[in-house]
Amino acid sequence: MSLYHSRIASSGSYLPQRVMTNSELEQMVETSDEWIVARTGIRERRIAAENEMTSDLALKAALNAIDAANIDAQDIDLIVVATTTPDLVFPSTACLVQERLGIRGCPAFDVQAVCAGFIYAIDIADKFIKTGTATKALVIGAETFSRIIDWQDRNTCILFGDGAGAVILERSSEPGVVSSILHADGRYADLLCVPVGVSSNYQKVVQGEAYTTMQGSEVFKVAVKKLGESIDEIIVQNQLVYDDIDWMVPHQANIRIISAMAKKLKLPMERVIVTVDTHGNTSAASIPLALDTGIRDGRIKRGQKLILEGFGGGFAWGGTLINY
Ligand code: COA
Repeated sequence: MSLYHSRIASSGSYLPQRVMTNSELEQMVETSDEWIVARTGIRERRIAAENEMTSDLALKAALNAIDAANIDAQDIDLIVVATTTPDLVFPSTACLVQERLGIRGCPAFDVQAVCAGFIYAIDIADKFIKTGTATKALVIGAETFSRIIDWQDRNTCILFGDGAGAVILERSSEPGVVSSILHADGRYADLLCVPVGVSSNYQKVVQGEAYTTMQGSEVFKVAVKKLGESIDEIIVQNQLVYDDIDWMVPHQANIRIISAMAKKLKLPMERVIVTVDTHGNTSAASIPLALDTGIRDGRIKRGQKLILEGFGGGFAWGGTLINY
């Protein structure tokens, strides 16, 4: 048994101002609002301004969470940023955020697990706190995913959006983050990827053609299967029954995947936080954005049990049980 535990002290989030509706997409590719809503549940998404970087969104979400926790930024002794769309190849977005918060010296690094990034980041920060290495961790999921979208590709451009969410995880005597499970299987890499990068096909990056490619229906099938198994793993690991869960806070990829997971947990949709309709899929930002939405509108209350779950490129996936 660990001497220390971590708990969520507060949350925060930030969305870029610009709203892109489905009807705008109708002007760009052959699609329709009806098709997008029926197949994905998405009605609109936010798009970062040209001069707005992932670190800008991350910083605003972080300040929001710091404010809600009523702490000084100097109290933070670990920064973990989950992102697939860092400002720069390096330094990490976490270091850029650290500098802008005026914090010196604490460890700061990025985690890359695409849409499961926030689940990975929470687990890592929880382990720093459990081992006594950190006492107040700033954990952020932030993306400018619009930058790696081909706006001529209707298979992908209807799905994604930009945003950031953050939590302050702090040391506590009782478990708040109860347990996490993480998985990955690189056999599925080709089904969802940006097939260029720094050390491969770099010319495409230079030409501004680093775009997400996806085999949607294959991704869908594996996501439903693996997330379903993960939920059972969490339930069994913690000797719970489905009815013990107050809220599911899922990665917001597609309302049909979310509904399938709710059904798996035998949870009515009234106990699922859904933001996919207005946020789209914001990758690593989607879970903390949904969490902050549920906390701030008063649905998620102290003492309740939450399951956070996410799935994405890699494939990488996982879930976390939280006593909020
Ligand atoms: N507008 C209109 N038609 C579209 C379209 C669009 N934006 N995108 C694809 N279509 C067409 C296809 O070309 C296909 O036409 P065809 O039957 O003539 O070949 C038809 O719609 C059905 O395509 P399909 O891919 O089978 O649809 P789907 O029900 O699987 O829905 C997704 C597509 C992408 C919405 C769905 O597969 C999905 O959400 N997958 C998971 C993706 C995801 O979540 N990725 C991120 C994970 S983190």
